[in-house]
Amino acid sequence: MAQKGFTLWFTGLSGSGKTALAEMVYDELKQKRGLKVEKLDGDVVRTNLSKGLGFSREDRDINIRRIGFVCNLLTRNDVIAIASAISPYRSVRDENRALIGSDKFVEVYCEVPIEVAVERDVKGLYKKALSGEIKNFTGISDPYEAPLNPEVHINSGSEAIEESFAKIITYLEERGLIKPLGESGYSEEEEEAISAHLEALGYL
Ligand code: ADX
Repeated sequence: MAQKGFTLWFTGLSGSGKTALAEMVYDELKQKRGLKVEKLDGDVVRTNLSKGLGFSREDRDINIRRIGFVCNLLTRNDVIAIASAISPYRSVRDENRALIGSDKFVEVYCEVPIEVAVERDVKGLYKKALSGEIKNFTGISDPYEAPLNPEVHINSGSEAIEESFAKIITYLEERGLIKPLGESGYSEEEEEAISAHLEALGYL
């Protein structure tokens, strides 16, 4: 079976675990399953493709449209695109869904209580947002519109990352977007390669 392209879109507050989860899924699909996959992370995209954009609604929408544009190019060429950006506005997330196609768009909502994100404050930005040093910070002084019907709903405040990871992989397998691993733990392609190798050596 040929690989199908789709977009896995992570949305959630800063500190909701989007990037960590996206990387875990990326490694699983690329390393373990040998699939073609690319990732677009908000923080990274803002250093190149969206360099110079700020955090007004207008700039955020441009940023999210750009990420969606690239995800669409990848998806239609049967590459899996993994996007992780706060993407706080529902309308532009839905625009991307319409562009890419609902059958190929998987929205993963990483929900975290704002108190937990503030408490974690991995980048030290919530402290600055609360003191007013950073303006328009999502969740503090700027809106976040949660998805109404995400394909996968993660509760980063209460779930272990392994649990969240398993939810995503199971969803993708059940939806037929990726193949389940065989009982051996090898992908179908790997199993075929191993069988061919053993046959060539005269073992099969
Ligand atoms: S988005 O709103 O356009 O989707 P994106 O995910 O690319 O945001 O970038 C968010 C990252 O920028 C945050 O993780 C944080 O590190 C940083 N950042 C800096 N200023 C802000 C702000 N005002 N609001 C949210 N994130 C900010």
